[in-house]
Amino acid sequence: MSKKIASARIQTESSELLKELNNSLPFDRVLYREDIEGSKAHASMLMHQGIISKEDYEKIDRGLDQVLEEIESGDFSLEGDDEDIHMAIERRLTEIVGDAGKRLHTARSRNDQVALDFRLYVLRHSRTIADLLLDLIESFVDTAERHKDVLLPGMTHLQHAQPINFAYHMLAYASMFRRDYERFVDSHDRNNLSPLGCAALAGTPHPIDREMTAKMLGFKAPTLNCLDTVSDRDFALELLFNVATMMMHISRLSEELILWSTSEFSFVKLSDKHATGSSIMPQKKNPDIPELLRGKTGRTYGNLISLLTVMKGLPLAYNKDTQEDKEGVFDSVRTAEISLRVLKEMIDEMRIDREAMEAACNRGHLTATDLADYLVKRVGLPFRDAYHIVGSVVNYAEELGKDISELTAEELQRADSRIGPEACAILDSRASMDARNSEGGTGSEPTRMQLERMKRWLQEARQS
Ligand code: ARG
Repeated sequence: MSKKIASARIQTESSELLKELNNSLPFDRVLYREDIEGSKAHASMLMHQGIISKEDYEKIDRGLDQVLEEIESGDFSLEGDDEDIHMAIERRLTEIVGDAGKRLHTARSRNDQVALDFRLYVLRHSRTIADLLLDLIESFVDTAERHKDVLLPGMTHLQHAQPINFAYHMLAYASMFRRDYERFVDSHDRNNLSPLGCAALAGTPHPIDREMTAKMLGFKAPTLNCLDTVSDRDFALELLFNVATMMMHISRLSEELILWSTSEFSFVKLSDKHATGSSIMPQKKNPDIPELLRGKTGRTYGNLISLLTVMKGLPLAYNKDTQEDKEGVFDSVRTAEISLRVLKEMIDEMRIDREAMEAACNRGHLTATDLADYLVKRVGLPFRDAYHIVGSVVNYAEELGKDISELTAEELQRADSRIGPEACAILDSRASMDARNSEGGTGSEPTRMQLERMKRWLQEARQS
């Protein structure tokens, strides 16, 4: 029986069932690049500090390059019996370079090694997701720019509320996704600390230099306390929370796109690239993409709750439970990245039906609040009294089978003698939209300002 490289005290071959339960190679092989990069930095530091010889270092360094090449070319398949990616790479390295390979694990444990690899993975993908978010925000900004003067009914309770402009609606989503971007960046910066050199839990008696490896690997600094570091998975939880929140936003937008592409709304047409047919109903074009995005949100919530639950009972420091941290994170990252890419394409290519949106503004008495504001501003009535008067004007319009914006000056006067002929202009949807010129409102001017500010922010974020 060949001796397992990391089982000094275990005399019998492991049970097949133990291997199936215990081995993480089937999923943690995703981390091979991070593992090799960490090992190269560690070996270089060991040499610098006089802990291993220059010769051994050179063998290790070249050997690790070879392992990387073999993995990428498929010559070294990560489908073997090794317990995890760390053991697989160390075993192959030792096969290639001999005894030097056995010195690599000096002053290191798999506990800091996995904490390092996983943290590098999480930090990198946080950056990728943040960049994809900037691309998506840019799509909202471009779409807003192209449809600045399109009106649509703003809703509350999914009921017609007040007329707004389409750019304003797009900027609401841009604002939502900007918060997501900021969360990924904040989490990245908070967790940008190196676990390497923490060893098993308590540090090491070897004269290592954690600053050096931290710098080499692109971290701000080493972490403060090793006991915390080897069992900390907050960086992964933050990513999972950030993805879950972002997917909740994507799901809300998807819901709106699904509604908007029904024949009842017909506000947008998704490109044929993003629609699928039905196997039985020849006329159908289904919005599968937004439906899938809405559906995939669920698994990202699940991944967050799973890891929170894994972590809740763990005493310090490393516990094997923590091995359960990876699959959910890989899944959330994959889901987030594909969702952002496809969503951007969909926003860029959807067609806006201006006529349908603007026609919808003439249903549902969207400008009723404007009449109340008129009675407050021009007639001096208290808002609550004006509110009730307008309620009866709406009833009157309904009796005539009209929208409030379609009432003539005489009809308005008949509904309430305090309403003068100038009220007609106020009840127009575009006038109503433009009248809401308070800061952050939908009027053309505040919308233009929001667009400018969002564009400036985007430019700065791109440069950071
Ligand atoms: N595969 C393990 C994980 O993902 C690596 C760390 C194992 N450490 C240990 N002491 N067993 O967590």
